[in-house]
Amino acid sequence: MNQTRKILVTSALPYANGSIHMGHLVEYLQTDIWVRFQKSRGHQCTYVCATDAHGTPIMIKAREQGVTPEALTEAVSQEFVRDFADFGVDFDNYHTTHSPENEALTIEMFEALRERGDIHTQEIEQAYDEKEGMFLPDRFVRGTCPFCGALDQYGDACENCGKTYTPAELIDPVSVISGATPVKRKSEHYFFRLGNYESMLRQWMRDAALDPNMVAKLEEWFEAGLRDWDISRDAPYFGFRIPGTEDKYFYVWLDAPVGYPASFRNLCARRPDLDFDEYWRPGHDTEVYHFIGKDIMYFHTLFWPAVLHGAGFRTPSSVFAHGFLTVNGQKMSKARGTFINARTYLDHLDPNYLRYYYAAKLGPTIEDIDLNLDDFVARVNADLVGKLVNIASRCAGFISKRFDGQLASALPEPQGFDKVAAAAEKIAEHYERREFSKAMRIVMTLADEANRYIDEHKPWQMIKDDANAPAVQAVCTQGINLFRSLMIYLEPVVPDLAARSRAFLNETAWRWDDAGTPLLGRSIERFKPLLTRVEADAVAKMLEQSRESLEETAGSQDDDEDPHISIDDFMKVDLRIATVTAAEAVDGADKLLRLTLDLDGETRQVFAGIKSAYEPATLVGRQVVVVANLKPRKMRFGLSEGMVLAAGDGGREIFLLSPDTGAKAGMRVK
Ligand code: MSP
Ligand code: ZN
Repeated sequence: MNQTRKILVTSALPYANGSIHMGHLVEYLQTDIWVRFQKSRGHQCTYVCATDAHGTPIMIKAREQGVTPEALTEAVSQEFVRDFADFGVDFDNYHTTHSPENEALTIEMFEALRERGDIHTQEIEQAYDEKEGMFLPDRFVRGTCPFCGALDQYGDACENCGKTYTPAELIDPVSVISGATPVKRKSEHYFFRLGNYESMLRQWMRDAALDPNMVAKLEEWFEAGLRDWDISRDAPYFGFRIPGTEDKYFYVWLDAPVGYPASFRNLCARRPDLDFDEYWRPGHDTEVYHFIGKDIMYFHTLFWPAVLHGAGFRTPSSVFAHGFLTVNGQKMSKARGTFINARTYLDHLDPNYLRYYYAAKLGPTIEDIDLNLDDFVARVNADLVGKLVNIASRCAGFISKRFDGQLASALPEPQGFDKVAAAAEKIAEHYERREFSKAMRIVMTLADEANRYIDEHKPWQMIKDDANAPAVQAVCTQGINLFRSLMIYLEPVVPDLAARSRAFLNETAWRWDDAGTPLLGRSIERFKPLLTRVEADAVAKMLEQSRESLEETAGSQDDDEDPHISIDDFMKVDLRIATVTAAEAVDGADKLLRLTLDLDGETRQVFAGIKSAYEPATLVGRQVVVVANLKPRKMRFGLSEGMVLAAGDGGREIFLLSPDTGAKAGMRVK
């Protein structure tokens, strides 16, 4: 094998304001497979990641939940760590960007850039929410697109016509947080002069041998001109305060990539074999790679290398961008149940399936990849179960039953084994270049050949004649060794399945090169099924659960589905004024009151969950607003013929809506 490399690998740091989903997993599984491959080849490969803790969305989310942003990100990190571990994503370190290592490194880089004259300040005007007392990031302002007139668009870009603009250009803008109309307000910001780095970045782009599609994108950006980058935000903000200021913070995207070296530094503290400077200062023979999604290329291929270079750090050896995940050919959708969280998947399916499926689809480009669920079931069953595991299950029974678990001491057909062994370098090359789908194709073709070998020799027929016993042992030993070598090639993709296979073969660890040496004259364990087939039913249940969890998260909306109802939809609701003529507690129901309502001559009985807030007697004679055309509902206590409207969180906090004086029972609410 070639000489040992020292490689540091990262995946993008997931934001702490959501859960890990199938889309994220494209990246974490792709990276993990590559890292496991490097490790199996004997290289010193280190994989670090962290939670991206900072920024306005996380601050707002914490506020909504009534917790500190520190507590929120801590809890979310724990959830992430469990999800990743259960998918076999094996980080050497998982940290957070809200860490002392990150703060120190961010400040160090900032000071170094300022020293060089790359930082300047300038007053800018931004949308400001006077009700909330804060500046609004572009995504927190919505309004009408100034180009095409589409309603309710984000402050940075229109989803209808694709044009970009500033929030100030939106027509009728509103703050997403408070609903107030934003005003313009000035404040001083810090800027990084990215333009100083154009020639350095052009050189870096060539050295990094980026994917041609990424180069094309960069060329476009160079063409458009590299603009100064605003790296500060005003308080209130969750992030690191800029030294020498009272109320200015580093923009989350400045300290987020610093989370890579920061997580690594955190690891170095407990790993004496790792030296921070060897990986992060120029002039060392180490490699650093960032795996990212194509949406965050600007940050990783322009800002980040420039900041590193300017601050006296080494630049990444390369950046590997992948495309976006679609499910059944469409953007993931909560309504269709295809917005599948990592945990929901794990509740129903084995992670090895998804790891294999993604590997079978992944290449080195920024092309999107599709998780087609029918294809997923068919492919995993055909390849992993039908081809690969099948080799072992067809041979193992004879070895354990007839030969006391003992493998033959020589291969009957060494050329067949050598062919599989000789594929090692080609497969390794594909892994190295992130051509996982090509690597998988070679393995499965070889698995087909192995099955053909067994079909030709038919050990189940041979065994009928005792004289054939040694030949049966030999054929099965051949089959098991073909299986074993292929499993070694697949270990980066399906580590659990490989571990179970290894236990069956009585081995403790595999390295890539072990695929070239057959296992002979030793005893193996009794065969237990290594992997069961994917059940289409489990996939259906997973989709069902994904749809249900949408219902639980009130207020969450699809990105791709219009959240509005039409005026016609609204007009379908028949709202009326009603007078309460009687109110009483309901036997056997601790929350309900039985209300008798008068809608101008028409009497209705309605059960309302308002007992915790209202004394029945006080309601009699009072006017309320009722949904008059709600489908009557049979309850244990009788029929409920409508619903009264109330606001509040429940408990004592329930407030019935009432009309102004003058409204009469039976009036329509419009
Ligand atoms: N916090 C930033 C990254 C900072 S790195 C210094 C971020 N976080 S994210 O949670 O939105 O995304 C994390 C990674 O997952 C990104 O590389 C992103 O491209 C990837 N993906 C998120 N959704 C995805 C799909 N639907 N499909 C494929 N990858 C996706 O961006
Ligand atoms: Zn538009």
